Amino acid sequence: MRIGVPKEIKNHEYRVGLTPASVAELVAAGHEVLVETKAGTGIDFADEAYTRVGATIAPDAAAVFAGSDMIVKVKEPQAQEIALLESRHTLFTYLHLAADKPQTEGLIRSGATCIAYETVTSNSGALPLLKPMSEVAGRMSIQVGAHYLEKEQGGRGELLGGVPGVAPCKVAILGGGVAGINAAQMAVGQRADVTIYDINNERLAELDMHFGSQIKTAYASKAAIAEAVSRSQLVIGAVLVPGAAAPKLVTRDMLKTMMRGSVLVDIAIDQGGCFETSHATTHDDPVYEVDNVIHYCVANMPGAVARTSAFALNNATLPFVLKIANLGAGAAMRADKHLANGLNVSAGKVRHQAVAEALDLPFEAWAAV
Ligand SMILES: NC(=O)c1ccc[n+]([C@@H]2O[C@H](COP(=O)([O-])OP(=O)(O)OC[C@H]3O[C@@H](n4cnc5c(N)ncnc54)[C@H](O)[C@@H]3O)[C@@H](O)[C@H]2O)c1
Repeated sequence: MRIGVPKEIKNHEYRVGLTPASVAELVAAGHEVLVETKAGTGIDFADEAYTRVGATIAPDAAAVFAGSDMIVKVKEPQAQEIALLESRHTLFTYLHLAADKPQTEGLIRSGATCIAYETVTSNSGALPLLKPMSEVAGRMSIQVGAHYLEKEQGGRGELLGGVPGVAPCKVAILGGGVAGINAAQMAVGQRADVTIYDINNERLAELDMHFGSQIKTAYASKAAIAEAVSRSQLVIGAVLVPGAAAPKLVTRDMLKTMMRGSVLVDIAIDQGGCFETSHATTHDDPVYEVDNVIHYCVANMPGAVARTSAFALNNATLPFVLKIANLGAGAAMRADKHLANGLNVSAGKVRHQAVAEALDLPFEAWAAV
């Protein structure tokens, strides 16, 4: 199959759909890979790194789309990319269509087979192509939280782990899923005083087994959260209710009880945020203050560590890219129901029920025959 990798054109997006190592795997399997010039230069993958493993460099996105059967990207296609999509193409990338009707209508018009990373599933019912980005965001949340606790950044002037003779900061992590456990690992590594709050008792038991005495766990009742917020220097929001907006666990009133210069990191901001006072920010201007509490609410945290994120994403996507390339999209989806769950749009129809319902568009199931 001919596989195309355009340069990402969204503002501040430096990740790339395929790393040179992934290209090498595809070439070894007998496929042709066409990479747009400078697609990876932002994260130090020069064009030569791609040609060395057998890719061909294309001068622009139009040449990539014209010369490829499958397009592998990171972010949802922008209007000028949708204009290049044809019915013969398979598009494999993050789409997040449920909140984006213009994009969905563009993909419908293109006739292309559009498979979204975020709806591909696994045997355990998890979303394996979202997981790496939650891992990155979870780990980053402690790093940014520690940074903004510094005095010069407007914070309390406290070191997360304290020093001998000075107590460490209290870190409250709301939600003990993928992002939450990764945040906890980093916070424990920095010797902070960590408590994870969740409403899933089985999950709390797993976390208790995993961390032993290194952390505390607590059921996320309103009272427990109110107390946590009033005592913690750093609060991480990492909850997820699949398919729904994040619950507002920390209210404006609770904020007033927080210590001056403490920090909230709302990882769940991409689902609306779990603090009442959260609004989405960008890497250009990541924080703001409400009631002397610093809020960090960047909706695409992994973009800040684009090189790590590109490797992590490729680790998860490559097996599926190979399957599609080896079998073709139709046969690959017939062979793998989890990949088929990634199908959002094909042949001008919306194939994902939740997307169709969210956008009030007709749904027509893809027939795996
Ligand atoms: N900002 C970013 O850049 C970025 C990047 C990646 C992921 N995310 C977001 O991070 C969030 C967490 O993702 P994840 O992969 O860790 O999800 P996950 O499903 O692995 O974990 C979510 C956890 O939240 C818990 N939870 C649900 N409701 C709760 C409540 N009321 N109180 C306490 N806990 C509750 C669940 O039981 C679960 O353990 C999601 O909103 C995801 O979209 C953001």
